[in-house]
Amino acid sequence: MEKILVLDFGGQYNQLIARRVRDLKVYAEILPYTTPLDTIREAGYKGIIFTGGPNSVYEEASPHYTPDILKLGIPVLGICYGAQLMAWMLKGEIRHASTREYGRTEITANPSSLLFKGVPEKSLCWMSHTDYIAKAPKNFLISAWSEHCPVAAMENPKKRLYAVQFHPEVSHTEFGQTLLANFIFQICGCKGDWEMEDFIERTVKELRATIGDKGVILGLSGGVDSSVAAALLSRAVGEKLTCVFVDQGLMRKDEGDMVEAAFKDLFPMHFVRVECQEEFLSHLKGVTDPEEKRKIIGVQFYQVFWDKVRDLYSGGFFAQGTIYPDRIESGKGDAAKIKTHHNQVGMPEDIHFDGIIEPLKDLFKDEVRAVGERLGLPHDLVWRQPFPGPGLGVRVIGEVTAERVHILQEADAVLRDEISKSGYEEKLAQFFAVLPGVRTVGVMGDARTYSELIAIRAVTTDDFMTADWAKIPYDILGRISNRIINEVDGVNRVVYDITQKPPGTVEWE
Ligand code: XMP
Repeated sequence: MEKILVLDFGGQYNQLIARRVRDLKVYAEILPYTTPLDTIREAGYKGIIFTGGPNSVYEEASPHYTPDILKLGIPVLGICYGAQLMAWMLKGEIRHASTREYGRTEITANPSSLLFKGVPEKSLCWMSHTDYIAKAPKNFLISAWSEHCPVAAMENPKKRLYAVQFHPEVSHTEFGQTLLANFIFQICGCKGDWEMEDFIERTVKELRATIGDKGVILGLSGGVDSSVAAALLSRAVGEKLTCVFVDQGLMRKDEGDMVEAAFKDLFPMHFVRVECQEEFLSHLKGVTDPEEKRKIIGVQFYQVFWDKVRDLYSGGFFAQGTIYPDRIESGKGDAAKIKTHHNQVGMPEDIHFDGIIEPLKDLFKDEVRAVGERLGLPHDLVWRQPFPGPGLGVRVIGEVTAERVHILQEADAVLRDEISKSGYEEKLAQFFAVLPGVRTVGVMGDARTYSELIAIRAVTTDDFMTADWAKIPYDILGRISNRIINEVDGVNRVVYDITQKPPGTVEWE
């Protein structure tokens, strides 16, 4: 399989670089700059990309690499810090500018550049740097320049070395993808034949070889990652797979049944559903502090889960739906810290698995979804909006009781139904109902009511770090409000949350 190495020097866009290469149907993997040269040589990469990073090459503590990497005969593309590093390794000149160059910048391309083939003479690119290459190393052609950057890009085609001061991977660089495609196809000679179907076939074969006659246990949450991992493992080993699904009664209306139906009937496996709402509620009795609730739900979840696994275990493997972004902590460069889920869940010491299996560990979220669709998982499950681990436990504000969970589930189901019918779903990143625990006065018929309030939260966002409240049309909001008040017992008022994040968060607790 042809693959490209993204050598991580700590830049913020490193995952994006790998993602862009994969968009060109070439597999890309990210490794830290501490990876030994022999490992890189033996892996048979078709090309190497040095990422950006926040440091200055001439500082001793900055991440460096042996210049021998430039002599492997493998094409190298340096980006931003990676470009400066390449120039520095080859005795070019790097200078520190008095001001940082940041934002969209016009560059002029050299028409004889191979890297800029198909890119207009003048185009916009995204710059973010203080240091710059003042003088390219010997035998390098200057492939592009800008007002403040005498060497915005450079290349030595004979040595197969290329560098750009700007970021081709971000969408603000108009012809960034053309440039990456030139590197990947024209320069590295890749064919671009990496397909999801190949991934599925290869992974199924590997899983069969690893698991053999043994069993494998997977914790299924109903979220996208663990669901796709379950479907893939089921395709590989069928009944040898046991999925443990802890239903703590804090999921949305009918969600537990939906998960069970999706797996029990459609995928051969041993499906175990642990229903434990009462147990969870008894631990949450009288608790109102949000962090305390989160802690109780988390601790309780793993207790129930591992107790069940312990009961079922008779040798074999433990699987989990770790995906690529879970493993790579970007922006560090340093030995790309591995954050395995098993660290997060605190694996019990008394169960000795033959090994941990993470079949999705090299995939990004949208790739995981593509695999899920191909394996035949229901659309709703594959495109499920994020749902917090503590579930409705943090959307029932204050004490969590069976009755209050029920009211919220019913209101939330109406909201989902109306949003889905209106076709507005795809415009929203996340939407849900909240039960704030406020009672207000109302009038129904001739009678005065004093009942619960439901708040609707709906946001648009790319990354959940910042979010805007969704501008849902009034008529849709009106229908949602009418139906909730008419159909959900114990509710007499609906409000819409119009708070941005920041300062508000997406969830209310
Ligand atoms: P906030 O409320 O922090 O939410 O703006 C951002 C995203 O994170 C989700 N979220 C959680 N997910 N456990 C989770 O697994 C939690 O405790 C939790 N709290 C918030 C939230 O739903 C949103 O997608």
